[in-house]
Order: sequence, then C-alpha cells, then structure tokens
Amino acid sequence: MSKAIKPKPSNLHSDLDRILVSELRLKRRLTKLGSEITEAFGDKEITAISIINGAIFFTADLLRKINRPIRLDCIRVSSYRNQTISKEKPHILDMLRLNVEKQHVLLIDDILDTGKTLSVVAKLLKKRKPASLKTCVLLAKQGRREVEFEADFVGFKIPDRFVVGYGLDFAERYRNLPSIGILKPSLQNPPEWA
Ligand code: IMP
Ligand code: MG
Repeated sequence: MSKAIKPKPSNLHSDLDRILVSELRLKRRLTKLGSEITEAFGDKEITAISIINGAIFFTADLLRKINRPIRLDCIRVSSYRNQTISKEKPHILDMLRLNVEKQHVLLIDDILDTGKTLSVVAKLLKKRKPASLKTCVLLAKQGRREVEFEADFVGFKIPDRFVVGYGLDFAERYRNLPSIGILKPSLQNPPEWA
C-alpha cells in the first residue's frame, strides 16, 4: 500500500547556512550580561529603552537577569526595511512615552552594524538630559561601522554576515527562531517578500 506523501513541515532552521549562537550560549551570556549591568548601575533605578522590534526578545530576557528596579519603554526606529544593507538614515517611527530627564538610561538594541541607528537614538536621548546613558547590544558586527560608535555592553562580537533569529529579522521573518543563525544568501531579498 502506498503511503500519501506528507508535505514537509517548513522548518526555519533549514533556511540557515549555520547556527552562529545557540540557545544555550545565549542563555549563559545573558546571565553574565545581567550581572555586569546590575553591578554597573549600582543602586540606581534603570530606565531601559528598547529599540523594537529587533530588541524585543533580547530585552525581555535580559531585564529578567538584572536585579535592580527598572522602568521600561520602547522606541521604534526604521532603517533596514526589507533589504540586507542599510541604505537610508534611520528615523524615529514611534517615540518614547517615559520622561528620561535625570534618569539613568540603558538603551538596548539587537545589533550594532553601521552604528547609525544607535548613534542617532543616543544623540536624541541625550537632548532629553538623562543623568547617564549607557548602551547595550546583543551583537556587535565587526568591520562594518560607518559612524564611530561602540556599545558599553556587548553580548557577542560577530563576523560580517547577515544574521536572523532571537528577534533579528529579514523582512519581518525569523524573529521567533530561538537561536541566531546566518541566513542563506539565496533567501536574502526574494522579490515576493518585498
Ligand atoms: P545600524 O544602524 O547599521 O547599526 O543597524 C542597526 C539595525 O540594523 C539593527 O537594529 C537591525 O535591525 C539591523 N541589522 C543590522 N544587521 C543585521 C543583521 O545581520 N540581521 C538583521 N538585522 C540587522
Ligand atoms: Mg533593529
């Protein structure tokens, strides 16, 4: 008796060249990063500002590893759209609700690439006169800076490859991958995803 052929369930992992940072390494690094940040802020209350959508997963997990009082707000910034290279200057799509004046701010993003996004957002926040401003990124891509910018806290330094997963997307896909992987070049910029 011939069996009906079931379509293969689509598997996000099969769209990757390889995994760059596994779930386990993410978990371990976040625990350490949380302790570093807890220590750096001392007894001060932290105002965490997460750049969404990319930093959603990282922020949610990291903040639970910081043993300090925290206020949380988000800021939405456009930069990449559906391309794998950033062409235009980032602009703010949705601004903060919290007042950051005289507050100790921790600005969080998923990845530092050209440096344009974080430098634009940091400059904007500084105008609001926080007591201090520190930045934290899960990933820092090497050899790609177009503006001088380094984060105070970095999860992992990675090579110059386009990565997805754990919040990072390509055309809004792959954010829900639990690990971080290198997207197959053949899947970058498919016209039907524009
Ligand atoms: P930057 O302004 O060039 O530093 O880029 C920062 C933003 O670009 C990040 O917040 C990401 O949204 C996006 N980005 C940069 N590199 C990657 C990548 O490899 N995968 C997914 N998104 C990326
Ligand atoms: Mg982003």
